[in-house]
Parts: sequence; C-alpha cells; structure tokens
Amino acid sequence: MALLTILEYPDPRLRTRARPVLPEDFGPELDRMIDDMFETMYAAPGIGLAATQVDFHKRLIVIDVSAEKNEPLVFINPEILSREGKAVMEEGCLSVPGIFDEVERAAKVRVRAQDRTGATFERDLDGILAVCLQHEMDHLEGKLFVDYLSDLKRERIRKKLEKDRRERASRAGAAATARARAYR
Ligand code: NI
Repeated sequence: MALLTILEYPDPRLRTRARPVLPEDFGPELDRMIDDMFETMYAAPGIGLAATQVDFHKRLIVIDVSAEKNEPLVFINPEILSREGKAVMEEGCLSVPGIFDEVERAAKVRVRAQDRTGATFERDLDGILAVCLQHEMDHLEGKLFVDYLSDLKRERIRKKLEKDRRERASRAGAAATARARAYR
C-alpha cells in the first residue's frame, strides 16, 4: 500500500469531472487504488476521500465515518436516487486543510453504487454518512464545499491556504538546511 498525495485548493485538477469506472476497470489495479485511498484517508486523518482528490479522475469514493475506523465503505459510480429533508452541518475537506464551515445538504439520501467487485447495491444513508457522501460526490463533479460559501469567504480561504503552504515550504527548507549542516 502507499500514501497518495492529496491535491489542495485551489489546484485546478480538483475541478476535473471524473469519468465512470468501466466494467474492465475492476480488478487488482482498481483494488490497489481503493486500498491506497483508504490508507491515505486514515492517515490524513479524514472520514471520506474522492478519487479526484488524489488526481485519479474516475467515479470512486471511499468513506469511513465510524469512531473505530473499521467500517470502510466503497462507492463506485454512485448515483443519488432520492433525497429527503435538509441538514446543515459543519464540513471540512482534506483538500481545504484547516477550514470548516456550514453547508446545507439533503438530510437523507438513497444511493445506488457498485462495490469493489462491481456488484451493484442500494443503500439509505442519513446523518454524517449522508452528508459525507454528498460532499464526496461533489468532488467527482469538480466541486468543493467552499463553492457553497460567499465569494468573499472563498477568497479569504484561498489566501490563507496559500500563506500556510508558503510557511510550510519555508519550514521544510529550514529543516533541510539544518540537516545538511548536521551531516557536514
Ligand atoms: Ni472533501
């Protein structure tokens, strides 16, 4: 297994619309991708990850909202069959680190998807699981939760993330210099 790099907002690759997973795509290679996505999500740590976020543009989502991290769910080619009610929850995203804000979504959804073997299933979701699935399905359309916020907020978030990245890069640079000195 391997940790994958998670793309961060405003990386334009996050705007890619994912293509369907085709019947011939199922197999060891897709299995490896799913395992790597789970490993990456658990390590982050996060409760959901869409393939788009790791620069793999196929309709594939992994989710685990359990406290014990022992209820992995895979949704391939997910479709929402029905929606019910409204729920406002605070959301975050591994592609928008450190930012949390409220988004309104359907409270309950019925989803049809395929599992990793290609078998089709239907499931009713509510609570955090329903919200998480809708958030991840947005990723497959190239949409991020910050798109639901005001232009002003989104611009502030973009600037903050760019500043954080610059600070991280300069800290990494300083650490590398310190190491180079130590080994001289
Ligand atoms: Ni996300």
